[in-house]
Amino acid sequence: MVKLTDMKPQQIRSEYLKFFEQRNHAIINPAKLVPDNDPTTLFTGSGMQSLLPYLLGEKHPEGVRLADSQPCFRAQDIDAVGDNRHTTFFEMLGNWSLGDYFKEQQIHWFFEFLTEVIGLDANRLYVSAFIGDEKNGIPRDDEVADIWKKVFEEKGIKAEIVEIGTQEDGNKRGIHDDERIFFYDDKENWWSRGGSLGKTPIGDPCGPDSEVFYDYGPQNHNEGYGLAHPASDSGRFVEIGNQVFMQYRRLEDGSFEPLASKNVDFGGGLERISAASIDSPDMFKTALFWPIIEKLQKLSKKGYENHRESMQIIADHLRGATFLAVDGVAPSNKEQGYVMRRFLRRAIRFAFELGIEQNFLSEVVPVIADLYADDYPEVKAKREEVITLLVREEKVFRHTLRKGLQVFEKIMMSPISSGIVDNSELYDHKDRFKVEYKKTMDAEDMFRLYDTFGFPVELIKEEAFMKGIAITDDTQRGFDDLMEEQRERSRTAAKGTFKGGLSGDSLMHKKYHSAAHLMGQALRDVLGEGVAQKGANITDERLRFDFSWPEKVNPEQIKQVEDIVNEQIAKDLPVTFAEYPLAEARAIGAFGEFGDKYGEKVKVYRMGAENEKPYSLEICGGPHVDHTGQLGEGGKKFKITKEESSSAGVRRIKAILI
Ligand code: SER
Repeated sequence: MVKLTDMKPQQIRSEYLKFFEQRNHAIINPAKLVPDNDPTTLFTGSGMQSLLPYLLGEKHPEGVRLADSQPCFRAQDIDAVGDNRHTTFFEMLGNWSLGDYFKEQQIHWFFEFLTEVIGLDANRLYVSAFIGDEKNGIPRDDEVADIWKKVFEEKGIKAEIVEIGTQEDGNKRGIHDDERIFFYDDKENWWSRGGSLGKTPIGDPCGPDSEVFYDYGPQNHNEGYGLAHPASDSGRFVEIGNQVFMQYRRLEDGSFEPLASKNVDFGGGLERISAASIDSPDMFKTALFWPIIEKLQKLSKKGYENHRESMQIIADHLRGATFLAVDGVAPSNKEQGYVMRRFLRRAIRFAFELGIEQNFLSEVVPVIADLYADDYPEVKAKREEVITLLVREEKVFRHTLRKGLQVFEKIMMSPISSGIVDNSELYDHKDRFKVEYKKTMDAEDMFRLYDTFGFPVELIKEEAFMKGIAITDDTQRGFDDLMEEQRERSRTAAKGTFKGGLSGDSLMHKKYHSAAHLMGQALRDVLGEGVAQKGANITDERLRFDFSWPEKVNPEQIKQVEDIVNEQIAKDLPVTFAEYPLAEARAIGAFGEFGDKYGEKVKVYRMGAENEKPYSLEICGGPHVDHTGQLGEGGKKFKITKEESSSAGVRRIKAILI
């Protein structure tokens, strides 16, 4: 019988920190998910990342023993989510020795923590060590194996040491009788930021490691992986901690030199340790996830057991997006913002599949925030701001999601298996295995899905794959061309103009510029939140405005837009601006895709009476009039003179004050 702890993950986290604090470790503040000074990586993916200089010998201000709980984001694991034990966002419990204690002490402490504090049964623990690499002069880690052997034997557990080699070797061999300590190659038991031995980045610290696995028992072994052994992905053994013995550094010539000080870098996933602590092979059935799953069950009126994968994906992606938002990332089309957008939109897509067709982030994000509010002060402080930001992104995408899905339907309904000549050369959306498709996608459709309906490229590919629609090399090439044309258009539009598409800064320019803001908002009022500005060109005679919209704007809608703009002119609203960091500007609901650089301060123009909800709020460089009433001077009215297509999924409106 396994002794089950009644500790919640939150307690496991605090017990871990307490344990190491009692052993003279300084508890350090975790790094941000978006590293401050590291252009080599988009996200913090492990606890040691921000400690790199100290592992290489620099003195850490807090001493030689450190510990923390580090939120980590590994976007590259997106496809593994859905198997009960992988997430892209997780917390890594970490402790470090900077040239202080080493293998023996680390192994004893971690074992003590697992068995005495958390109460894991030592019989369920299996461990690994590095087999060595002759070519690079790195010996087999017998020291670690012998320490483990003693540790187990002290508990009365026979622990045989076995050489396995690669993961593949293990799949063929399996494990026998009293075997408990396994030597694997560098793919399994060497740690550097780049991965295996040969992939260690030049200049980086690295070393052999020793992983600890929890055995969920043969009933959790999935067929298709060969025989069960610790480093297999079959589901029976799950890694719950990794002790890296950082003792080398990679040199320019590719070789490894010993570091002056031998370090320990331990990292263990809080969520996985928590799952092991209650003997649950499903990590999502722990207290840091279950409230989210319960909320999803309630919203979808569907049970978790039959919809595990979707619910796991939604819960994982929304946790990640929430923490990214707390750290100041906003959805955009670049870098971290793009990854965040992709995760959010994928979560919304999976929720749609579950039948959650209404906005739901306003219900789920607060649940996530509440799970962390007590332990992460920033989560508490930014709770409302984060909810607003994520809900706003949801509204934008949800507006076009259904229409986007109709594009896929249309392709599937089309009678011709257009253009598939040689199915034998088509692969799945990850380029892993050959697939037979029924239809192909046109470049124009793909571009429309991306540009008009807001599907991130990876989501288009995933959806197409699931529906049996091929995105061939031709589709991709055509899509790339359309993207390039679009970039060219915006470059041309930007040339010789002021910011905001103005060709000058006379009073008439300002009037038309302010009219463009009013009209942008009026278009969203009439057509919906999916309207995004795609360009503007303003002279002293007219305004031209491009925006995403899939179809013709009909005369009735045009009339409505004109009426609204004229109404706002008649109200003579004051026009003011203030500066905000971009994420804040988004959080207060400002529109605009410009100046989209993370961390940058942006101007937000506001058109609205003081102390009232503004009619228009937009990120913009100016200049503008001081009062909307100026647009109506001389009895003039706002009038749309033309509505036409500008490019795929983009409409163009010209308007004047007359
Ligand atoms: N750096 C190691 C890891 O990320 C241990 O902290 O697994």
